[in-house]
Amino acid sequence: MQNKNYYITTPIYYPSAKPHMGHAYSSIIADFFARFKRMQGYNVFYLTGTDEHGQKIERAAKENGKEPLAFCDEISQTFKDLTQTLNLSNNDFIRTTEERHKKSAKNIWNILEKKGEIYLSKYSGWYSVSDEAFYTDDEIEEVNGLKQCKISGSKVEWVEEESYFFKLSKWEKTLIKFYEDNPHFILPISRKNEVVSFVKGGLKDLSVSRKSFKWGIPVPTNNQHVMYVWLDALTNYLSALNYPNEKDELYKNFWPADLHVIGKDILRFHAVYWPAFLLAADIKPPKRVYGHGWILSGDQKMSKSKGNILDPIEIINTYGLDPLRYYLIKEVSFGNDGNISEEKLENCINSDLANNYGNLCQRVTSFCEKNMNSEISKDVNFVDEDLNLFSNYTDNFTKIVEYVDKQDINSYINFIVDQLFAANKYFNDQEPWKKKGDKKRLNTIVYTSLELIRKVTILLYPIIPNTAQKTMKIFNIEFEKNNLETIKNNTFINSGKINKIPILFKKIEKND
Ligand code: MSP
Repeated sequence: MQNKNYYITTPIYYPSAKPHMGHAYSSIIADFFARFKRMQGYNVFYLTGTDEHGQKIERAAKENGKEPLAFCDEISQTFKDLTQTLNLSNNDFIRTTEERHKKSAKNIWNILEKKGEIYLSKYSGWYSVSDEAFYTDDEIEEVNGLKQCKISGSKVEWVEEESYFFKLSKWEKTLIKFYEDNPHFILPISRKNEVVSFVKGGLKDLSVSRKSFKWGIPVPTNNQHVMYVWLDALTNYLSALNYPNEKDELYKNFWPADLHVIGKDILRFHAVYWPAFLLAADIKPPKRVYGHGWILSGDQKMSKSKGNILDPIEIINTYGLDPLRYYLIKEVSFGNDGNISEEKLENCINSDLANNYGNLCQRVTSFCEKNMNSEISKDVNFVDEDLNLFSNYTDNFTKIVEYVDKQDINSYINFIVDQLFAANKYFNDQEPWKKKGDKKRLNTIVYTSLELIRKVTILLYPIIPNTAQKTMKIFNIEFEKNNLETIKNNTFINSGKINKIPILFKKIEKND
């Protein structure tokens, strides 16, 4: 039997400052996949949360004059609130300061140590607190007398301390074989190539504990050390499934994860360290890691330290949530970096959402209301012009599912945009207002147009769920599991009355 469970995760975010657009982006993308798979009949577990240990958080708390946990409680709550604001359909929200997570992380440590995968030595080298990452000399440059990481641009400091090491070097060949055997483990392919060359370039053992500060999960066998925050954080994906209880239903159903959605900045941790830890602990690695691009502010990654933050809540207050979700999914080419500007967002609302979609829904329903007393008649006779449009959905059904399973969001949304154009063109070309004398043809055109609205709305649901639910009120249809299949059914709408719906998207007046 086909496995109908699907486990998708976002990165767990550092609660060092309030969430910004970059965080919202990862979560919205994961929500798109979660909602699509549910609509396809999958039992989906969608996880997000906050990554609360380590020096970065400890310092941020100090700067704010707070104890680390009190500080995390406060900021983690803003991330939790954002899940509501963004209408995320997550099943759980994990915090790494929770007991369930500490237990799971300690368990991983114990296994690795027992298996001889961890040894005590001394670390001396560069460390970036902002990235919580160790860097080699080659990865460092000097700018204005300060050392920083060449890629992230984050400041680094010299660290010399006793540390436990994970025998990462030992896993080099196994990892390369794993990438070969699982050619779609890392997507997009361009990023996969970067990771593979990094691993082929030779892996050094990885420092996995810190001794010079206390804010972390103590190493179970030596409480002078805390676990390296990335080993701690990555384990969250298991903790939420009640690991180490491998008999637990959640763990049995959902591990290994189907998809970790992450930003390209943290690919190395997810595509190299994480599978290595898991392989060493005899746990199956996840099936896929997708490293998306950045939301840029100007031409730079948005980050607190650069002071160029775009606040998703401000945008939502001005333009609404679904326009933002639609924009991020359509206008940021998935896999690449993208920009968000109010001008582009306004254009997108006006042309795609208000004109192409909203207006189509309004025109067809108003026409039906005025000319047919809001009655959907099944006294219809479909001809090729109607059926051709329906078959766009039936013939492409497998392709649509494949787009999603390959994380090809760009093709998915292009398909929708094409269908919206086609539906609008159909309604214009058929000129139903001239067919009042031919009842059957009139019924057919209106029925077809409504049916096209229903089909495209189902595909839009994972992107703009609130709006799609409003649209479905036309037909008195609630979204339920398995309703993706119904786009192949052309006689799904029942006869009866359609409901009026409010204007879905208001056009933004521009004074230029
Ligand atoms: N805590 C780690 C992740 C641990 S996962 C086991 C972390 N947190 S973070 O808060 O700094 O960022 C997490 C993620 O937010 C990034 O990987 C990325 O997915 C997203 N983004 C943060 N800034 C971003 C942009 N400017 N643009 C797009 N996404 C970015 O790293």
